[in-house]
Amino acid sequence: MTTYLGFSCSQHDPAIAVVDEAGEVLFAQANERALKYKRGWHAAPDAFGLIEPILDSYAQAGPVSANLTWSGNALRSVRYLAPLCRWGLGALDLIGASDLEAKRARGWVLRHGLYRAPTSVIDLLLNLELRLNERRHFRSRLTKKGWNHHLCHAATASFSSPFEDGLCVVMDGMGEGSSTSVFSFRDGRLKRLDSPGMANLASLGIFYGQVCFAAGFDPVAGEEWKLMGLAAYGRLDEGLYRRMRSAVTVKGGHLSLARDYAAVIGHLLPFRQRPHMANADMAFTAQKVFEDVLFEFLNQAHRRWGGENLILTGGCALNPSANGKILGATPFRRLHVPMAPGDDGNAVGAALLAWQAAHRDRPVPRFSTPYLGSVRAQDSLERLCRHGVEPCLQTDDPDRLTDHVAARLADGAIVGFMQGRAEFGPRALGNRSILADPRSPGIRDRLNASVKFR
Ligand SMILES: [Fe+2]
Repeated sequence: MTTYLGFSCSQHDPAIAVVDEAGEVLFAQANERALKYKRGWHAAPDAFGLIEPILDSYAQAGPVSANLTWSGNALRSVRYLAPLCRWGLGALDLIGASDLEAKRARGWVLRHGLYRAPTSVIDLLLNLELRLNERRHFRSRLTKKGWNHHLCHAATASFSSPFEDGLCVVMDGMGEGSSTSVFSFRDGRLKRLDSPGMANLASLGIFYGQVCFAAGFDPVAGEEWKLMGLAAYGRLDEGLYRRMRSAVTVKGGHLSLARDYAAVIGHLLPFRQRPHMANADMAFTAQKVFEDVLFEFLNQAHRRWGGENLILTGGCALNPSANGKILGATPFRRLHVPMAPGDDGNAVGAALLAWQAAHRDRPVPRFSTPYLGSVRAQDSLERLCRHGVEPCLQTDDPDRLTDHVAARLADGAIVGFMQGRAEFGPRALGNRSILADPRSPGIRDRLNASVKFR
């Protein structure tokens, strides 16, 4: 009985997924949830303290297949990126580049060489290996494999879709060679349709992240959602739209950057000093550019490959404002966006791809529930009680539960409510709720002060 583990190993959003011998997804969770570290930048995907309970709960006492979300070649090349970048930065000084050229090149090297690189290398998962070796029955039965990054995105999205067939578009920050990929999904199999890019740095996700930064937010903390929210308060700036729209184009199934792309972004950067609300028009305009480029890409993909069902994934699929308009702006009839289209979701895809490779004669079982995360831990509840959060009630009796919660709310208490497992995905609230009686005077201030620490 082999256990298939998936480890998202980009430099951000590490995650773990577990698939059993039957191909069922048993567990999936972004490590940020357990590490209490937003987006888990540069954290090991198999972090100590986090991997042990998952192995105890879900791993079978047999061989373990560990799967990474970047291909072996990508992971092998990572070790050379840092020295190469250092050499490149030194070379800039030697060739006497002008200040402006040097500044641009320096930014390029840092951004593309270091920031985008997976933090992990092919020989990662040392914590996992150590923990498995400490348990004698796992000894020498660990295999590791890296899978193409966009293939992992496509697998998570397609195997969680309700479709028998569809066109799967990955629109990402960056993958292996380019930020976009197109796959066909048919008979439970994925096939790459577009030609893989070669160091194509054009990216709608990075464009949006750069505007997010210019608007005064922090894309490293994943604050693109704030830019999306701010857009609702703005109006179209037509001059800015023309400049931004011409900076990112769609050509032959790939994104492409105009020569003056850096100048367009550079023009926006001083806006960062302004109050957020002063940047609402820029946010609206950037959102419109994002949508128009996305729709053009999808329309071109439809003209070329057709189909009624669209499966959209990759980090750009985390823009629900755009997602909601896709069916009106393209000929696709149905749309599926997975619960975790970003890099955390790839952990599931990698584990399922390994399962599929080991069971070529069987279809990959579909999964649709997002409730794949952690369960309520008994010791967490006991700890809460020890810290005076009382009374804690655990019950399977719904009447008792509702009576108890209603009574406490009527007394003016703030109630933490947990039912079942946490959801998987960056928009998940953990299947937990905070309840309070809105009639209670000052309740909003009490909530902000005692729960949200605002
Ligand atoms: Fe990705």
